Formats: sequence, structure tokens, C-alpha cells
Amino acid sequence: MPTIVIIGSLNTDLISRVRAMPRPGQTILGDDFLTLPGGKGANQAVAAAKLAGAGTRVHLVGRVGADDFGKRLLDGLGRHGVGTRHVTVTERVASGVATILVDRKGENSIVVTPGANAKLSPADLDAAETLIRSASVVVMQLEIPRQTVRHAIATCQRLGIYTILDPAPAPAKGLPRAMFAVDLFTPNESEAEALLGITPRSRAHRKRTIEPKQMAGEFLARGAKAVALKLGSRGSVLIERAGGFQTIRPFKVRVTDTTAAGDAFTGALAVGRAEGMPLVEAMRFANAAGAICCQSFGAQPALPSREAVERLLRT
Ligand code: RIB
Repeated sequence: MPTIVIIGSLNTDLISRVRAMPRPGQTILGDDFLTLPGGKGANQAVAAAKLAGAGTRVHLVGRVGADDFGKRLLDGLGRHGVGTRHVTVTERVASGVATILVDRKGENSIVVTPGANAKLSPADLDAAETLIRSASVVVMQLEIPRQTVRHAIATCQRLGIYTILDPAPAPAKGLPRAMFAVDLFTPNESEAEALLGITPRSRAHRKRTIEPKQMAGEFLARGAKAVALKLGSRGSVLIERAGGFQTIRPFKVRVTDTTAAGDAFTGALAVGRAEGMPLVEAMRFANAAGAICCQSFGAQPALPSREAVERLLRT
């Protein structure tokens, strides 16, 4: 039975809908407020669970606090069929929260306060090694300590397990080389720019943007075996060390909220790989999942079913 293991964060999303993003120092009134389950790790696990066939198991390795938010997050994952026996409830620390603003164009701005996510340690991964050993695909993001992600990559390399790293949020100071050594690296455009040290200022100075193919190629040079660069409404591109570059076209949808579109994409890629889809096909599947996610509000409530993705793929 294929098993997907996601190693990552769980957050409660505290979301205000606003007309436009506030400027520094400005107070604005929001339109409404919602509390919804989120966190890049949990979102990707739910995305994978909703998209996977009946024979695929999805597990999350993470940490929550011993509080009401943590309990609700665990209950929600259970309802989606995500295995949580390696999500540890941690005393004396709050569960992760994300404060999110979503504007009228569906663009968001997010502040994550990691709380218990910051306690996920290499020892937690060692405790989950039997589960990790059984995985066809292991997926990670960067809302947990970097040394834990490094340890996860090293463990998977030792065990010969396919790894996907979604480098979100992208650290301004970049990543050590060992963290690019994954089977599939899945940044979005702004994360790719941040990781390559391209700032809005340096971009303006250069008076031209770096082509997606060139950006993705930089990550191959740093050690990734393949790069799936997410370009939002422009689709995505795939570049592989083994050769080959493909542009995967976008699906045009009406955008309500882009939150978790990248998580839907990465979760779908994990399912595609676990099911043995060729990478280009998995990327098309992932583009469709990301597009559908943008049509609804919130992170986990917006993640699509397999049926919805297949319907869009048929159009
Ligand atoms: O990718 C979207 C997610 O980022 C939100 O659910 C929020 O919790 C932050 O982790």
C-alpha cells in the first residue's frame, strides 16, 4: 500500500478579509474574520488524503500544543483520514498560529508564529523511522526547524526514499547546499527569487526578470534532481537533471483566495508520485489541484477532491 509521509507544521489560521492590505502604521477595518485549520504540513497532508486513491495512506509527523487549537487540528486531520500517531502533543507551548489577511483580489499576507512546530526535533523523526521507512514519498516544508528538515533529508537519502521539499517560507539568507539535495524541489516564484538572493531592488536594477527556466536551473546546479517551479496563474515549469524542460499550462479559474494553493499543488504532486504518474502528468494534476483551491476561501476547506481535479483535467 503506497504511503505518503508529510513532515511539517500544523497551524490554526486566524483570517481577516480586507479590502486592501494595510500600509505600515495604518489601521484598517476588516470585512469578516474566520478561524480555520491550516499549516503547510497539515494542508499538504489533507490535500494528499483528499486526492489519494483508497489504497494510499497519508501520515503527518509534527507537533501541536496541549491546547484547544491543537485538539481541533488533530480532530480535523483524523476526519480527513490523515494518520496522526506521530503528531506529538507538547506541554507548555502553544499550538502554531498563522495570522492571515486576504484582500479582494484573493492575495494574502501571512505571519506564522510556530509555537509547538518549532519543537519538532530530529529525535521525533528517529521515533517515526519505521513509518518513514514505509513511505513511497516524504514531503517537507520550512515551518519547522531547519535542522529537522536536514535530518529528514539525510534519513530519506539513507533509506532511499523519494523526497519533495517545498521551501516555504523561504529564508532570506538562503539554504545550505545539503537541503537542495532532494528528488523534487517545489518553490513558487517569490520563494525561488528569495533563495537566489534576488530582491525587488536588484531586479529593478537589472531591469529584467530572470526566466523561470534559468531560476529552476540554478536549483539543479545546487543539488536538486528535479524542480517544479510554481508560477501561479501562469502554470508551472518542470526541469529535470536527467534533461528536459516542460511548461505546464495553467487552468483559468476565478480567484477567491490563493491561500494553500501551493500546498494543494505539493500534496497533489506527492499523490502523483506515490501512484507512479510520470512527473509531467503529476504536475498537470497538481496545477489543477492548485487552481481549484484558489476558488474557495481558507486553506483546508478549499482543498479539492480527486473527483473535482479529474473533472477540471477533462476540460
Ligand atoms: O500555505 C498556507 C499556510 O501557510 C496557511 O494555512 C498558514 O497556516 C501558513 O502555514
